[in-house]
Amino acid sequence: MGKPGYKTPILAAAVSAFALTCMILCGAENLNAQSAPRQIAVPLPPMGWSSWNSFSNTVDSDVVAAQARAMISTGMHKVGYQYINIDEGWWLGKRDELGNIVVDAKAWPALKPGERAADMSNIVRYIHGLGLKAGIYTDAGLNGCGTVGPDLGPGYPFEGSEGHYEQDFLQFARWGFDYVKVDWCGGNKENLDPAVQYAEIARAIARAEAITGHRLYYSICDWGNNSPWTWAPNIGGVEADIWRTSGDIVAPIVAHSINSGRKASFPGVLKNFDKGIHPEAEHTGFYNDPDMMVLGMPGLTDAENRVHMGLWAISGAPLLVGADLTTLSDATRATLTNSAVIAVDQDALGIQAVKVAEPAAGLDVWSRMLSKAGQRAVLLLNRSGNAATIQVNWRDLGLADSSATATDLWTGKELGAFPSSYSAVVPAGDALLLAVRGSEGKRTHYTAAGAGGKSIERVGVPVIRDRPVSFNHVASRARMAQIQIVYSNPDKAPRFAELRVNGQVATGIAFPSTGSGTGMIWIQALLDRTGARNVLSFSTRGDPGPSLESISLQ
Ligand code: GLA
Repeated sequence: MGKPGYKTPILAAAVSAFALTCMILCGAENLNAQSAPRQIAVPLPPMGWSSWNSFSNTVDSDVVAAQARAMISTGMHKVGYQYINIDEGWWLGKRDELGNIVVDAKAWPALKPGERAADMSNIVRYIHGLGLKAGIYTDAGLNGCGTVGPDLGPGYPFEGSEGHYEQDFLQFARWGFDYVKVDWCGGNKENLDPAVQYAEIARAIARAEAITGHRLYYSICDWGNNSPWTWAPNIGGVEADIWRTSGDIVAPIVAHSINSGRKASFPGVLKNFDKGIHPEAEHTGFYNDPDMMVLGMPGLTDAENRVHMGLWAISGAPLLVGADLTTLSDATRATLTNSAVIAVDQDALGIQAVKVAEPAAGLDVWSRMLSKAGQRAVLLLNRSGNAATIQVNWRDLGLADSSATATDLWTGKELGAFPSSYSAVVPAGDALLLAVRGSEGKRTHYTAAGAGGKSIERVGVPVIRDRPVSFNHVASRARMAQIQIVYSNPDKAPRFAELRVNGQVATGIAFPSTGSGTGMIWIQALLDRTGARNVLSFSTRGDPGPSLESISLQ
């Protein structure tokens, strides 16, 4: 709670009597209904398929068309999978005298009368014709990964976009692609600065979008080598993106090829999950990407596939499938299409799970706050070699210490109502994924202090250049706090602000339109000072930011 006399008095006298009564009596949900800031929709993590894990450099038009058809016939599109992403190997690095990408006519033929071979818009039209979206791949440097370490087939130089950013991203948009993954093999080899290159690419994408009116979703792939979670959210002004946080879980496993004997491994899945946890950066449409899923590929059991999916869902990871969709087993298909689990991944708050307890070495309790008040997705993960009992306490989830129900998300089975905790035996190397429904713990509200240091209740303080808006003397129950921000942005497009907590590295936050009213978004931030000593400062370097009304947290 803010100390009286400071800039952030919780329940300040300025709060209307009605709002005050409601804050105390109604809880957060009713307060929202009465005082109208509504949950603002943020872009959700992408769902789809990518060619690399199962096809490596052998990707071509036939492969891609078959996978697109399989996304329909498996029913995956009905539960939200939509991208068919062409990864490396589609282009052999040739350009014409004007610098345009030259595509192999045999690999990318005409698919319909009237089409020209060697035109990537053919396959895009095919994918779009099935009601799906199409993704493409390039590298930020001169060379792609094919030169650095070709997997199958020859190495081919210069299949990166350096020196051609404007030209290539405009070409991708003109071909009709909806998504582009930008790798870092070339950039790495040349020792380029990823924060600089990826910002330049974001601006090239924005120019291509402005020229064509076609959106290109941005996927950054520097494998977490350069801490992208510190610079990738909102990089170059982008409204939504994902960034890889680790290397590949497994090198490609292409059936009937020299590498068909490779196996994905469960420890590899866990390792990428752990490296993908950066909750302070995952918010408002910006997501950590722990890699394409290897679920359904050789090496993992059905139980491990289920845990893999649960880990990706609770961390709000992009759900990009690497397996060959034409040969999925029934069990794998069921795992990939469980709508209750997908709903966790696609939850509207768009924030990541946090480890809230580790009752013993190798036993984890992960919790993700969901958009319905009082609800959490909870993963009880047993990394150890023996079955073990794992307990989750409602208090650790930020719920009130009163009865809450637990449901097994995989089976839909109601497990019952429990006074303050739930515990279960989890087999070795397995996990239980739960929905817990209880009552929110009490949150503290802080109002914004403007440049003059005055608290302004119910109006909001605009974030403008050289005038940061601060929330001072903020206390938090947990080090990683879930923070609701009430703000307004009357523009149609998002506004942006940078948040710096206690002088730590800033994160770029998107504030989508709230129309004429106020709205709320959620972020998580590391409040590393004990007591009411944390300072949250929002700033903008250029364009006007949102007007901030209040933040609230436990
Ligand atoms: C890198 C990426 C992979 C894939 C390959 C293509 O290794 O991490 O996901 O795109 O390049 O060569």
